Amino acid sequence: MILIQTSTPILISQSVETRYLCNMNSLSTQIESLKKEIASFSIQNAKELEAFRIQFLGTKGVVKNLMAEMKQVPPEEKRAMGQLLNEFKIFAEEKYNTAKEQIDDGSGDDKPAMDFSLPGNALLSGSRHPISLMRNRIVEIFQHLGFSVADGPEIEDDWHNFTALNLPENHPARDMQDTFYVQQEPAWLLRTHTSNVQIREMEKGKLPIRMIMPGRVYRNETISARSHCFFHQIEGLYIDEQVSFADLKQTLYFFVRELFGQNVKVRFRPSYFPFTEPSAEMDISCMLCEGKGCSVCKKTGWLEILGCGMVHPKVLENCGIDPQKYSGFAFGMGIERPTMLKYGIKDIRLFSENDVRFLQQFTGAY
Ligand code: PHE
Repeated sequence: MILIQTSTPILISQSVETRYLCNMNSLSTQIESLKKEIASFSIQNAKELEAFRIQFLGTKGVVKNLMAEMKQVPPEEKRAMGQLLNEFKIFAEEKYNTAKEQIDDGSGDDKPAMDFSLPGNALLSGSRHPISLMRNRIVEIFQHLGFSVADGPEIEDDWHNFTALNLPENHPARDMQDTFYVQQEPAWLLRTHTSNVQIREMEKGKLPIRMIMPGRVYRNETISARSHCFFHQIEGLYIDEQVSFADLKQTLYFFVRELFGQNVKVRFRPSYFPFTEPSAEMDISCMLCEGKGCSVCKKTGWLEILGCGMVHPKVLENCGIDPQKYSGFAFGMGIERPTMLKYGIKDIRLFSENDVRFLQQFTGAY
C-alpha cells in the first residue's frame, strides 16, 4: 500500500497532506496521469523550467514524495512499485534536461527571436606575410629561367656552413657571420646563409645545377630597425660547363628588371667572398628617386641588393666537382631589404612581431 499525492500540480507541491492510498494498480493509473501532466507541461523559459523542477523534481516535489511513501509498501509489492517509480523519475528528468538544453542554447523563448535581416559575421580572409609575397615573386622569376627550388637544414654543421665554402676555422671572414651554437652539440650551429644548401646540392654530384635556395638564416647581431638576429635569403647557383661571368650578369639583370621594372639600371662593384672568385656586389638604381639621390639611397642614387661571383675552384673541389671541366656562378640576397623597399617598411622588427594591424595590410597574388 502506498500513499500518493493528488495529480493537481499546485496541490502536489504545496500540500503533502492531500494524499490517496493506493495499491499497484492505482499507482500505475496515477503515474499515467502524472506523465500526461508532465508531457503537456509547457517549459519555454528559465522561470517555467524552475517551476517544473520544484514541482516534480525538487525536495518536496512529486517524485521525492512518491519515493518517501515507498517505506510503507509491503515487501512483496516493493520491487514492482519501485521499478514503476524509477521509470517515472527518469521520465520527469528527461523532460527537464531536454527543456534545459533548449533554453541554455538559446532556442527557448527567453532570447529574442533571431533577426535574419541583421548583417552576418564577416568572414575574415587571411593574407600572406610580406616576406612570403616577396620570396614567392623572386622564386617565380627564377623559375621562368629554368631554376628549381632547393631546401636544406637551418641547423647545420661547420663543414656545410663554413669550411666547404672556403671559410676554414680562424678565417677572418667568419667574423662577419658570427652565429648561434647548439649547447648540447657544439658542432651544430644555426646557418648564417643558405649557401649550405649549395654545398649539399653540389655534393650530390648531379650536374648541371640550376637552383635557387630560399630560407631563414641567423646571425649574432644586435637587433635594431635595420638588422635582426634572423632574416631570410635567397641564393642561386648555376654550375655547368663553360658558365661565365657574362651569364651571371645577364641572369641577374633579367631578374631585377622583372622585379623592379624595365627601367632599372644595375652596376657591379668588385667585392670579396671566400667562396667566389671574382666576387661582386650588385647595386640597382634607386627606384624611389630614379637615381637622383634620396634619403633611402643615402644620396648615392644606388641601392645595394646582392652579392655574387664565380664559384671558387676550391669550393667545387670540396664538393667533388672538377673545376677544369665545370664552372658556375652563385649569388645571394636578403629578402627583407627589397620587401622594405617595395612596401616602404621602415623597421625590420615589424616582420617578426606578428602584429595583425601590420600584417593585414599586405595582399597580393603571391
Ligand atoms: N652567402 C653570402 C652572404 O650570405 C651571399 C653570397 C652568395 C655571395 C653567393 C656570393 C655568392 O653574405
